[in-house]
Amino acid sequence: MSSTHDNDGAPATGSGAPRAGAAAHGAWHPRPETAEDVPVVRRINLAAFETAGEADLVDALRRDPAAWLPQLSYVAGPPDGAPVAHALLTRCHIDDVPAVALAPCAVLPGYQKCGAGSTVISALLEAAREAGERTAIVLGHPPYYPRFGFTPATGFGILPPQPWPDEAFLALSLDGSPPPRGTVRYAAAFGIA
Ligand SMILES: CC(C)(COP(=O)(O)OP(=O)(O)OC[C@H]1O[C@@H](n2cnc3c(N)ncnc32)[C@H](O)[C@@H]1OP(=O)(O)O)[C@@H](O)C(=O)NCCC(=O)NCCS
Repeated sequence: MSSTHDNDGAPATGSGAPRAGAAAHGAWHPRPETAEDVPVVRRINLAAFETAGEADLVDALRRDPAAWLPQLSYVAGPPDGAPVAHALLTRCHIDDVPAVALAPCAVLPGYQKCGAGSTVISALLEAAREAGERTAIVLGHPPYYPRFGFTPATGFGILPPQPWPDEAFLALSLDGSPPPRGTVRYAAAFGIA
């Protein structure tokens, strides 16, 4: 997944929030998405990525009851403005054991590197922990995800469904117990065999 900065990064619903204004005060507000947020979430993903692939993926996951975990799609924005960040956990399996996959994560280009992404991902992982989820996995930028506690999945005996680099395929125990060993199977919408 690669990012783009050719969008103007305007707030997804035109709230006019100043760039990094909320971050400057440490005040990004994370919360589960609501029905009203669905088009906003799509616009955030369209703006953050080069193609519509990730936005389409989120919509396909939302349509799949076997994948979608209603309380584990999170947005964050300024206290009085539209969301600028989105992150999603969906059902995956490690062999036959349920786990959650973090993807995609997206922040409007004009609001990136201001803490919104970290805020929404941290809140999402905490919500998963409170919901009783035990293991999260992510395929992503190696320098970014270790800040949330992710480490190389192969260190736990968790194998990717395809030969992905060790440093990019990461896992996190949400409850402190050793994660299950096995091969990850993503939701069908990811198209990863
Ligand atoms: C990746 C992304 C979600 C991070 O959110 P963010 O709000 O920009 O990041 P934060 O402000 O929380 O964190 C900033 C830190 O992340 C790092 N960072 C941001 N984007 C990064 C990237 N693509 N690769 C590596 N590190 C990145 C910054 O360098 C900064 O590091 P520092 O804290 O050591 O200075 C966001 O930049 C984004 O939407 N990018 C485009 C889409 C994308 O690539 N999504 C991830 C793949 S699913």
